[in-house]
Amino acid sequence: MGKDVIIACDFNGEEQTLAFLDRFEGRKPFVKIGMELFYSAGPDIVRRIKARGHRIFLDLKLHDIPNTVKKAMAVLRDLDVDLCNVHAAGTGRMMEAALEGLTRPDGSRPLLIAVTQLTSTDQEALEKDLWIERPMDQVVMHYALNAKRAGLDGVVCSPLEAGKVHEACGASFLTVTPGVRFAENEAGDQKRVMTPAEANRIGSDYIVVGRPITAAADPVAAYGRCLREFTGTAE
Ligand code: C5P
Repeated sequence: MGKDVIIACDFNGEEQTLAFLDRFEGRKPFVKIGMELFYSAGPDIVRRIKARGHRIFLDLKLHDIPNTVKKAMAVLRDLDVDLCNVHAAGTGRMMEAALEGLTRPDGSRPLLIAVTQLTSTDQEALEKDLWIERPMDQVVMHYALNAKRAGLDGVVCSPLEAGKVHEACGASFLTVTPGVRFAENEAGDQKRVMTPAEANRIGSDYIVVGRPITAAADPVAAYGRCLREFTGTAE
């Protein structure tokens, strides 16, 4: 898998999502299906989008006791997604259980990454709400190393942390980074943001981009711009 832009399809329902993807006329962007769409449209939306030829990141961020996560992952395994995730805060044991559940009898499995800290969490929330009295980058690095030790393929982190995660966990450990904004965009509820070009420079493997594309007047053009800025090439 090379560098790519993943579009966060945060829509409420199948019709709206498929109509959005129709606008790309034969192009097949890598698509992220998150909680809103999965809970409103159900597992069939994954099969439909997959059948259209898109790669899929199923972003359900599982976080529960190891046995429950293992069994839930065994269900997701059969949806044939390309990438899925858990919260690293669920512990190493939970991440190992997730991998077990995700692995098919022939040893193949979708890629599994862990959320380190949500990009909407800032230092103040880390200390006041989560009661973690450490600098954000140290916390992210600790969670990333836990994920690597558990055998996962990478992490979701802010683009601000992607370079350091690669230093600590190796170049092939994937960094998937939301919190991306064009230079002129508002950050909205995201606290730790970067432009696609900056995310590229700092070493993100994949950027996850929602509203800057989905809420753009011309989403196809916004996607093209994102790809150009992130990969540094013409499409
Ligand atoms: O609209 P926006 O570009 O902010 O969308 C970012 C997407 O990435 C959302 O679907 C959000 O759930 C997801 N995400 C995130 N921060 C994480 C993990 C996932 O923003 N740490």
